[in-house]
Amino acid sequence: MTRLSVNVDHVATLRQVRGAAYPDPVEAATVAEAAGAHGITAHLRCDRRHIQDGDVAALKGVVRGKLNLEMSLAEEMVDVALATRPDQVTLVPERPEEITTEGGLDLLRHERDVMKTARNLTRAGISVSLFLDPDPDQVRVAARLLECVEGFEINTDSYSKCAPGAFGEDLAKIQECARLGAQTGLAVYAGHGLTSQNVRPISAIPEIEELNIGHALISRAVVVGLERAIGEMLASMLMPR
Ligand code: PXP
Repeated sequence: MTRLSVNVDHVATLRQVRGAAYPDPVEAATVAEAAGAHGITAHLRCDRRHIQDGDVAALKGVVRGKLNLEMSLAEEMVDVALATRPDQVTLVPERPEEITTEGGLDLLRHERDVMKTARNLTRAGISVSLFLDPDPDQVRVAARLLECVEGFEINTDSYSKCAPGAFGEDLAKIQECARLGAQTGLAVYAGHGLTSQNVRPISAIPEIEELNIGHALISRAVVVGLERAIGEMLASMLMPR
């Protein structure tokens, strides 16, 4: 089945808004894996609004599946990744004022910078994924970077904003990019804005190996607990169409 990587950023958000020591995203990661998550994702932002450097180091110590660190191309972040050695880094664009990641990397403009950072990380044994909008032109550039990029994560934000059942064009673009990416030898992942209501058409795309889901899962966990929220999401990912 499609793997689920649980993004624990917003466990840390809840901690940071009160400057408290709890809830602990590392404890949440352990519970998430015990509940069936296949891996854990955390985004270390330049403003440290949720995940902190110490969380990344602690996650590295406890995560048993794949630890995926989302980060910008900033040198400071590359240093953290090289010191911590997560299994995978997903490179994302980052704008200080944004509420959440607003779009994919623009490889048409930044191919050289991305290549330089990806090479640096790959040399240290870290797999590199790129967060990309569902645009075949972006995927074609990613395919040129196969020597230092293992895969890419399709941004499902625009898809997730469609009314249920009206995914038409957005879904078709994601399917096309997934097909194209897999044909060129890249691993294909997807995420952003996915919920148990909209996840199935995405988990049904055969080329997509893994989904990164955070906000909806952690929000649901506040009400019913993390274990049940993950169980529900895994069940939704497998629902008959
Ligand atoms: N993928 C990337 C690159 C992201 O930046 C985020 C948000 O941190 C996600 C996936 C998860 O999005 P959401 O929290 O909406 O599930």
